[in-house]
Amino acid sequence: MKTKILNSNQTDIAADILKSGGLVAIPTETVYGLAASAYKPQSIKNIFIAKGRPMDNPLIVHIADIKNIYEVVSEFHETAQKLAEKFWPGPLTMILPKNSKIPNEVCAGLSSVAVRFPSNKIAQEIILKTGEPLVAPSANLSGKPSPTKFEHVFEDLNSKIDAIVDGGDCTVGLESTVVSLLEEIPRILRPGAISADDIKNTVGCVKIDDAVFKKSKAGEKVLSPGMKYKHYSPKTPVTMIISSAEKYSEFINSKKNDNIIALCFNEDIQNINVPYVSYGGSDDVKTQAQKLFGALRDADKLQGTHIYAHYKDVNGFSVAVYNRLVRAAGFDIINL
Ligand code: TXA
Ligand code: MG
Repeated sequence: MKTKILNSNQTDIAADILKSGGLVAIPTETVYGLAASAYKPQSIKNIFIAKGRPMDNPLIVHIADIKNIYEVVSEFHETAQKLAEKFWPGPLTMILPKNSKIPNEVCAGLSSVAVRFPSNKIAQEIILKTGEPLVAPSANLSGKPSPTKFEHVFEDLNSKIDAIVDGGDCTVGLESTVVSLLEEIPRILRPGAISADDIKNTVGCVKIDDAVFKKSKAGEKVLSPGMKYKHYSPKTPVTMIISSAEKYSEFINSKKNDNIIALCFNEDIQNINVPYVSYGGSDDVKTQAQKLFGALRDADKLQGTHIYAHYKDVNGFSVAVYNRLVRAAGFDIINL
């Protein structure tokens, strides 16, 4: 299949492709999404095929006008309303009871649905012009780091989908916070730019699901099916190094003859003697989040035998960086 490359002024063409059942990768503020109409079961199946995504991993439905919320969910209670008022449009996904108009293929047979109102203007225009809510998982091949640049989408999905809209680099860089509102206390299933404190300060309470920090055991039932797969991984094995700057550079330099790659902070660069990719300042979590997925892809291209990624805990948003990096590393961590 020939994949059309569209620019951000060609949202009409993108919408026409989606209306006729096609797949279009679109920019959002978090990561690029692979969009299809949420009402077309065959298009939804095609998304799973194009990404190589396990069929039991449900999709997020995107809207661009709060008036359309009942096209997706069957209940929108007070907690959801408060969170929507505060954080929509933006990088927050809510899990709520599903509307029967949403086909089962979207939710992998669950009775709940994930819904998000993105802030990216190009995404909003495409959703509104299509006139239907759009499903959009991250526009990467399943298992690879999520795409935060047009080039990442092209690398993974060229010739597999109908079109890619080039909207430049994503500003947030990590996928949305996923919060389940099916129980009394909101439960974070996937951390993102909207932190646990942000949610607590808006609705009074919040829990973070164990799966955010821990590896799920084989066969274990998890609330967010996406959390059970190995994720975000380059081909090169990754180990996460939790340490001070000095211990990190000492460790890295001791392996300099082993063809290793450092995925490091800007401050580490001057102290290490191996090929590296940096992903921001050690205290600048916003930049770390924005650059992490691209840095994992770039580190892979250096073709080393092993990637050693430096991590430092900074604040609430660090949880999201930790969550992605630890999955990229398959939970292989060294504390120095
Ligand atoms: O920022 C984002 O959320 C991006 C952009 C494109 O909007 N999308 C994205 O989609 O990250 P995806 O498919 O890569 O991740 C969706 C996550 C998965 O972990 C999935 O298991 C979870 O949301 N999810 C979806 N529906 C769910 C449901 N009904 N219950 C629990 N988890 C659900
Ligand atoms: Mg994804």
